[in-house]
Amino acid sequence: MILTIATTPFEDQKPGTSGLRKKVSVFRQPHYAENFIQSVFDSLEGFQGRTLVIGGDGRYHNSEVIQTAIRMAAANGFGRVMVGQNGLLSTPAASNLIRRHKASGGIILSASHNPGGPDGDFGIKYNISNGGPAPEKLTDAIYARTRTISSYRIAAPPGVDLARTGETRLGGMAVQVVDPVTDYAELMRTLFDFEAIRALIRTGFTMRFDAMGAVTGPYAHRILEDMLGFPGGTVMNGTPLPDFGGRHPDPNLVHAGELARLVLPGGGPDFGAASDGDGDRNLIVGRGMYVTPSDSLAILAANATLTPGYAGGLAGIARSMPTSRAADRVAEKLGIGAWETPTGWKFFGNLLDAGKATLCGEESFGTGSTHVREKDGLWAVLMWLNILARRRLSVADIVTRHWAEYGRNFYSRHDYEDVDAEAANGLMNALRARLPSLAGRNGIATADDFAYDDPVDGSRTTKQGIRLIFADGARIIYRLSGTGTAGATLRVYIERYEPDAGLHGMETQAALSGLIALSRSIAGIGTHTGRAAPTVIT
Ligand code: G1P
Ligand code: ZN
Repeated sequence: MILTIATTPFEDQKPGTSGLRKKVSVFRQPHYAENFIQSVFDSLEGFQGRTLVIGGDGRYHNSEVIQTAIRMAAANGFGRVMVGQNGLLSTPAASNLIRRHKASGGIILSASHNPGGPDGDFGIKYNISNGGPAPEKLTDAIYARTRTISSYRIAAPPGVDLARTGETRLGGMAVQVVDPVTDYAELMRTLFDFEAIRALIRTGFTMRFDAMGAVTGPYAHRILEDMLGFPGGTVMNGTPLPDFGGRHPDPNLVHAGELARLVLPGGGPDFGAASDGDGDRNLIVGRGMYVTPSDSLAILAANATLTPGYAGGLAGIARSMPTSRAADRVAEKLGIGAWETPTGWKFFGNLLDAGKATLCGEESFGTGSTHVREKDGLWAVLMWLNILARRRLSVADIVTRHWAEYGRNFYSRHDYEDVDAEAANGLMNALRARLPSLAGRNGIATADDFAYDDPVDGSRTTKQGIRLIFADGARIIYRLSGTGTAGATLRVYIERYEPDAGLHGMETQAALSGLIALSRSIAGIGTHTGRAAPTVIT
C-alpha cells in the first residue's frame, strides 16, 4: 500500500559540497529525510521502472534511512533497487554499481569523514547515471523543491530484510540485496596487476591498512588479504561500526595517528594506508615518508603506465584549484591536459565523461580516475601497491626521486575549525573587497576569486576561493568549507615551488613559514576569528 503523507518544508536542506549533511539529531526530526528524498525524486525525470542503487557507510541512523529510501523508491515508481547487504556500500562501490548496472542513479547515505554516532553527523547524497555526484543544476533544483514540498509518497511498513543477499519484492518494485564487495573487487582486478603485487608480497613486503572502523573493512579484508594474500591482521579496525568505534574516520596524520606511528618511524610495515567513513579518501605513508595527497596524484600520474588499467597513457589530469600544482608539472611533461576545477568531486564528472581527464584528485585525501565517478580510497592504495611492485623502491625513494625530477611543491592546509560563521564570512568579504589592491604588494602578482567555466557544458561557477598568486608561482588560497555542520571552517591553502633538490628535505611548515605568516596577516585571521593558530594542519 502506498501512503501519501502531508509535510511542510524545512528551511535548511540546501546541499553542500557533497550532498545534504547535518547532525543526526536534525535528520531524526519527523519527515526530515523523507522531505529531502522526495525532493530528489521530484527533481528527476524518466526514472519510472528503472533501477536505483542505495547504500551507505553504515554509520548511526543508516539502517533507518535505508529502509525509508527503499520504501519511498517503491512508492515513487522505481522498477528495482539494488542495495548493499546490511545497507553497506562504499561511495566508490556505489558509483561502480550505478555504472555497471546502468541504474538511473543512486542514493548514498554518508557524512564521509565526519564523526558518527547519535551526536555525530549524517548525510544523503544523490548520484546521477554516470555514477557521479549530482551537478549543481540538479542540486539547485532539489533545493528549490525542498522549499515548496507539501507531501511525500512512501510504501507502508514493513521494509525489507537486508541481511541476506538475493531478490525480494516491495509492492511492484524488485529489491536486490547484493554483496557490496564483489563487483568492486572485480573492477579492481581489471585495473591492477594483482600477480605483480603477490610477487612483491613474496619478497617480504608488508603493509597495514586502517579501515578506521568504517565501510572499507570488508573491501580491504577481501581484496588485500583474501585476493592478494597479505596476511591476516594487515587490515586494522576492519569491522564497520555505527560510531566507527568512537573514531573520527578521517584519514589524516592526526586521526589515523595509530597507523602513522606504526609505519612512519620505520621498523614496522613497509607501507601504510587508510580510508575514511565511506571509503573515498586515502592516506598513504611509508617509512619516514608521508605522501601528501597532492604529491600522490602527481606520482600516480607519472607512474600510471606501469599499471594495466592505465598502460595506454592518460588523456589528462584534473585537480581541484586548492590542490598543489605538482600534478600540472607531470601533465606538462607528458604533454597532456591539466585541468583546474572548483573544490568537490562533482566538477570532475564532465571532464572524465568527455575523455578530457583520466586521473583526478584533491588535496583533501581524494584521488580517482575514469573507473568510477567518485574519488576512491582503495583504488589509490592498489595503484600505489602496483607501482611499488613494479618499481621495487620504497615509498620514500619514489617520492624523493619524483621531487628530484619535477621539483617539489611544498604544500600545507591550515584549517580554522568551528569559527563563528559571521566572523568567517566577514573575513572573506573583507578580503574580496580588497582584491584589487592586493596585487603588486608582498610579491603578489594576481589576486582574484576563483571562477570556473566548465569546458564541457559551459556552466560558470563563481566565488570558489580567494587566490593570492605570487610572482614566483607560490599561492595562498582562502575558502570556507562547504561540508561542515556547525559554525564555519576557514581553510587556508599554502604552496611554494622549490626546484632545488638540495632543499627538498626541509620540513614543510618551515619551508612555508614566510607564506604562513603572510596568510595570517593579509587576511587578518587573528582579528576576525580570534584564533592565533589553526586547529588542524595537514
Ligand atoms: C571537503 C574537501 C573537498 C572534498 C569534500 C568532500 O570539502 O575540502 O576537497 O571534495 O570535503 O569530501 P569542504 O569542507 O572544503 O567544502
Ligand atoms: Zn568520504
